[in-house]
Amino acid sequence: MRLITTIEEMREVVHDLKKSGKTIGFVPTMGYLHAGHATPIDRARTENDVVVVSIFVNPLQFGPQEDYASYPRDLERDSAICQEHGVDFVFAPSSNVMYPKGTVDVFVDVRRLDQNLCGRFRPGHFRGVLTVVMKLFNIVQPDRAYFGMKDIQQLRIIEEMVNDLNWPVQIVAVPTVREDSGLAMSSRNTYLSEEERKTATAIYQSLQMARQLIEAGERDASAICDKCIEFLERVGLRVQYFQVVDYDSLQLLRTVSGKVIVGVAAFVGKARLIDNVVLEVS
Ligand code: PAJ
Repeated sequence: MRLITTIEEMREVVHDLKKSGKTIGFVPTMGYLHAGHATPIDRARTENDVVVVSIFVNPLQFGPQEDYASYPRDLERDSAICQEHGVDFVFAPSSNVMYPKGTVDVFVDVRRLDQNLCGRFRPGHFRGVLTVVMKLFNIVQPDRAYFGMKDIQQLRIIEEMVNDLNWPVQIVAVPTVREDSGLAMSSRNTYLSEEERKTATAIYQSLQMARQLIEAGERDASAICDKCIEFLERVGLRVQYFQVVDYDSLQLLRTVSGKVIVGVAAFVGKARLIDNVVLEVS
């Protein structure tokens, strides 16, 4: 496994790989790797000749009050995990390498698809994500890129980006990896105390509750959301949103029908955690 920190070196490697006809599978991450990252890495390993993982905590996608400074980082541990999972190249540029001007003057932006779920509460977040992902795609030129359904709005917006901008990469969606308790794996789970980790399991339980309500015939989205929010608040979580949106348009639904995303963001102590389920409702 080779650790690469400059764009020039990454480009040289990619150039040689392309020349020899090798397929490149790419897993972009912000590091502090866990099983939720290992699963897309393993999938990329089986489907491509070469696997590239990027590790870059992208300042452009954090709001001024968010956790950019405290976001957990451990390149040594991450490199060991990548090695164990058969990764060929870890691309871990510094912020100066990715943003030599400190920022960029040209962005990739999104409309409509960022009106609900996280986009509603994190202005500029998806602009930051899309801009860095497009930069990484330009550098790594992957045949396939792997994204987790844990961040379903990110996945959907990236699918639209490559479609709208004709970028020749196949986006592969990887199901959410959970702990036995149901809690979705996240680098931000490190913020949780043992007690908070138990409380946080209510997030997935609330999604199961929504699923059961829908299975029992409830189709009124606000009735479902109200019940689930009440449950989460009762166990001590501060809910930022609980929404049911259409899978394709990411627009809020009044009546639950078709392919839908039930999404939630809630604070457990200082940690903001997100989760979702995708349901086909007839
Ligand atoms: P990060 O949060 O590190 O996640 C990297 C990838 O791993 C994303 O595609 C995310 O959806 C996936 N992932 C994280 N936890 C997961 C879980 N429990 N189950 C399945 N997949 C999971 O998402 C980002 O980084 C950044 O926004 C990035 C795309 C790298 C751009 O900066």
